Amino acid sequence: MILFRQLFDPNTWTYTYLLADPVTRDAIVIDPVLEQVERDLAVIAEMKVNLRFILETHVHADHVTGGGKLRHATGAQFVAGAGTELDCADILMGEGDVLAFGNEVIRSICTPGHTDGCTSYAWRNCLFTGDTLLIDACGRTDFQQGSAKKMYASLQKLLAYPDETLVYPAHDYNGRHVSSVAQEKEINPYVVGLDEASFEKKMQELNLPHPRFINVAVPGNLKCGEVE
Ligand SMILES: [Fe+2]
Repeated sequence: MILFRQLFDPNTWTYTYLLADPVTRDAIVIDPVLEQVERDLAVIAEMKVNLRFILETHVHADHVTGGGKLRHATGAQFVAGAGTELDCADILMGEGDVLAFGNEVIRSICTPGHTDGCTSYAWRNCLFTGDTLLIDACGRTDFQQGSAKKMYASLQKLLAYPDETLVYPAHDYNGRHVSSVAQEKEINPYVVGLDEASFEKKMQELNLPHPRFINVAVPGNLKCGEVE
């Protein structure tokens, strides 16, 4: 048994995940959004759980994390991947590091490529893939230390998990909520039939517009969302 909520921020198309052990009531949140902190606190109260850890999959460019506010409100610890080198984090997770909440364990997987500090998290048969593996897509690699070569390797690492593993991304822009390793291996156009060289070429040719909020979001996130 587990308490599990997938929450959505419609302004930035961001998914925030709340997981809790139903016996001990210890909870974690993954990728909270600043503008949704009141909602998240209401869900935490409604579920009668105690927030222990706030996990970030990376230093986001599209929204400011709600982690700073949530840390003040709940006393939870702020957790990010070691590659973020965030001084403001309480815990930096290296490859394979684990956190326990109640009887549950979540493990970090270093998945650089979108940014250097990108970290995915494995819990039971689920992967929280941040902006590394998205549904039918992957995170862009054209800013914030982005590297198509590293992204390629990180995608292979995630897709090496068992086929039935569920994939929960940080965003979806088409209303989809969850995928699986099998499905992404089968139909993701950033995966199917691409070797490293062809993947790099595809990423180089994307020509995406610059993110709208990057000049606010990145500095705010480098302070763990301690923006007020
Ligand atoms: Fe991102």
